[in-house]
Amino acid sequence: MFESVAARPNDPIMVVMEQCKADTRPEKIDLGVGVYKDASGNTAILKSVKMAEQMWGREETTKTYVGTIGNQDYCQDMLELMLGKDSAVLTEGRVGAAQTAGGSGALRLGAEVLKVAAPDATVWASTPTWANHIPLITDAGMRMDSYPYYNRETLGVDFEDMLSHLDTHAKRGDIVLLHGCCHNPTGADLSPAQWDRLAPFMAERGLFPFIDLAYFGLGRGMDEDTYGLRKVIETCPEVLLAASCSKNFALYRERTGLIAAITQTADKAAALKSQFGAIQRKLISMPPDHGAAIVTRILRDESLRNIWVGELDEMRERMLGLRQLLSDAMNVQGGEAMAAAIKNQNGMFSTLPLSPDHAARLREEHAVYLMPSGRINIAGANTSNIPRLAEAILAVL
Ligand SMILES: Cc1ncc(COP(=O)(O)O)c(C=O)c1O
Repeated sequence: MFESVAARPNDPIMVVMEQCKADTRPEKIDLGVGVYKDASGNTAILKSVKMAEQMWGREETTKTYVGTIGNQDYCQDMLELMLGKDSAVLTEGRVGAAQTAGGSGALRLGAEVLKVAAPDATVWASTPTWANHIPLITDAGMRMDSYPYYNRETLGVDFEDMLSHLDTHAKRGDIVLLHGCCHNPTGADLSPAQWDRLAPFMAERGLFPFIDLAYFGLGRGMDEDTYGLRKVIETCPEVLLAASCSKNFALYRERTGLIAAITQTADKAAALKSQFGAIQRKLISMPPDHGAAIVTRILRDESLRNIWVGELDEMRERMLGLRQLLSDAMNVQGGEAMAAAIKNQNGMFSTLPLSPDHAARLREEHAVYLMPSGRINIAGANTSNIPRLAEAILAVL
């Protein structure tokens, strides 16, 4: 049976992780894997999560199934967090949502629903985009294409090219996949003014927004990081939203996400919710409970919520501080463009103008690990190794 089955090549991120793990040089700097790390290099469990888990441990009375659409209290709390408590689409009942297995599960479920709603449409993604977007969406049977986004010379967003490309090539009813904030892998986000132009552009051209919000709260702040999402929801009649609690609640392995469809009527929201349930049933039957139960506990308990907000602020501010330090250290002749970009970009990632050869030299000569694409995870650095990191990057360039 398995004679014809070959092993698959390792994911590039796994290769970098393994190389870094095997490196015994004590000064090594790991900017590869996309998880938040504290100043000691640990991906710790948040205090708010630990406290909620202890309470939940005492209160939990059953392990019976959560149902195909998962925990609806969690969905409501998350939607209020992202859209605002008084969001018109929430008060009008125009959102159908389901709990999913992480943001990846949400993207897959979203793509499956698109296959039901618009099987002939194309999903347009930024160049570059998170590598896993492509298999998650194409394996659901959707066609994908790409629009220009990140300019590796200016290290900024080619916004006019993005609009003109979509204007020329995307047809009415096509889907545009957008990173709500903290673009992975570049860290280059749309400004509020660009979202203000993009939203009516999409509405006028009949383009359908599919927003991936995997890092909200970790860019510039909760309001800033949801600005684009809210603007698009205000402007476009229908939206699909995939969200994740992996990073902002540090619940990575608990697989906690959400898919939501913003529709034109409450009846359609109910229809979409039932589609999410029916499709999730075919894929994984039901989402896991734990992460969503913890998020709900935190968001409904004022004291836990305040602790979580403080922890989120701390993660975000640490990364902004590291960005500032790295930017200052790179702001020398030849490093000015990188210095400016690193400071202006958001979240964990930046993509620097480094080739796979540069990445190999950084690894071999300086014990600095990053993706061959030039992506760095700023949270992997710390205040004491930033000067050496800046020198190493400038040296290989
Ligand atoms: C852009 C983006 N979307 C979605 C996800 C999904 O995250 P998860 O499935 O771990 O919640 C990630 C994770 O790295 C991501 O970077």
